[in-house]
Amino acid sequence: MLTDATVPPTGFMTVSIPEMTFTLHQHSRLSVAPMMGYTDRHCRYLHRQISRHALLYTEMIHVNAITHGHPARFLSIDPDEHPVALQLGGCDPRSMRSAAAAAATEGVDGVNLDVGCPSPRVKKGSFGAVLMARPQIVADCVEALQDGAPELEATVKCRIGIDDHDPEEQLPRFLEVMAERGVRRVIIHARKALLNGLSPKQNRTVPPLNYPLVHRMKQSFPELSLCLNGGIVSLEQALGEIEDGLDGVMIGRMAYRDPMAILGTADRDVFGRGQSACPDAVVASMADYIDRAMHQGVRPCQITRHMLGLPAGQPGAGIWRAALSDQEAVNDGGSAYLLKTYADVRELRESHTSA
Ligand SMILES: Cc1cc2nc3c(=O)[nH]c(=O)nc-3n(C[C@H](O)[C@H](O)[C@H](O)COP(=O)(O)O)c2cc1C
Repeated sequence: MLTDATVPPTGFMTVSIPEMTFTLHQHSRLSVAPMMGYTDRHCRYLHRQISRHALLYTEMIHVNAITHGHPARFLSIDPDEHPVALQLGGCDPRSMRSAAAAAATEGVDGVNLDVGCPSPRVKKGSFGAVLMARPQIVADCVEALQDGAPELEATVKCRIGIDDHDPEEQLPRFLEVMAERGVRRVIIHARKALLNGLSPKQNRTVPPLNYPLVHRMKQSFPELSLCLNGGIVSLEQALGEIEDGLDGVMIGRMAYRDPMAILGTADRDVFGRGQSACPDAVVASMADYIDRAMHQGVRPCQITRHMLGLPAGQPGAGIWRAALSDQEAVNDGGSAYLLKTYADVRELRESHTSA
């Protein structure tokens, strides 16, 4: 839980959302990782119905898409989504500055630089995980983000190392530059990225996790807020890492697959404020959201695709998944179909419990 002992170091930004007085530092005790193709605005809206306080991230967006495109198209943050951090990819400080300014106008709460993506396309563009070997450029970019939007908090998400570099040397060298250049928070995906030969998917499973190194980095750089990412499978595990001294935990795949297990009790257990999420209320909010989104031309299946894991592990989960995977039925029936499916699954669950 958040206590006075977790009051952030000075200089951390406060998010001005009614009924919330947490700083972004405090929200970042638990965050849902940026995941390309997944953490779009509909997914974030769902997660926000489950936890009021966890920090949410956009998918990684290349700076040029913001500076040369239409920021509103890429960002469009729902007023109920906050706090949300925009994750940017790129390596050009000038573009970073203008992207941050545009992001601030669109109402994001923080900006994060991706220094962990191992994809060949990203490597070719000289950004993502390759930047682990160029910490001064990373720091230049973060400085530019901060210049472009002083009111936003600029952070970095990185790996523990890349290729044949020794993480025991590369990570402290990287963090030393971050600390010297005024970066305040770094999220560390606790495995190396191997940029020659492994696919992005393999780079999320094959290189071994090294949590002890991240803990040692917290001891070496107490002034940095450090969040651990990679392989966390339960809220209990996340709480354990925080109790052991880290400032926060970021969870990706498990939060997506089983959002109730990861986020359902987070407000109470991680933030010490609020109740466990009620699945009935979450589904009801999402039904309303579908009705509103349909008026803006969104197809219901674009929203319900993120909801497949809501009853993960419970009786009826398979029926729910199958029903919501039927895109034609979802799009034809909209919110009524969602509510009817939920009622059927709940009835099945209740009969299972009373049997
Ligand atoms: C489908 C998918 C897309 C991802 N896209 C991004 C991304 O856009 N930016 C990023 O920093 N990391 C991305 N990641 C990595 C996650 O943010 C996270 O670091 C990784 O999945 C490890 O955390 P986990 O074990 O809790 O999932 C992605 C991961 C997945 C599974």
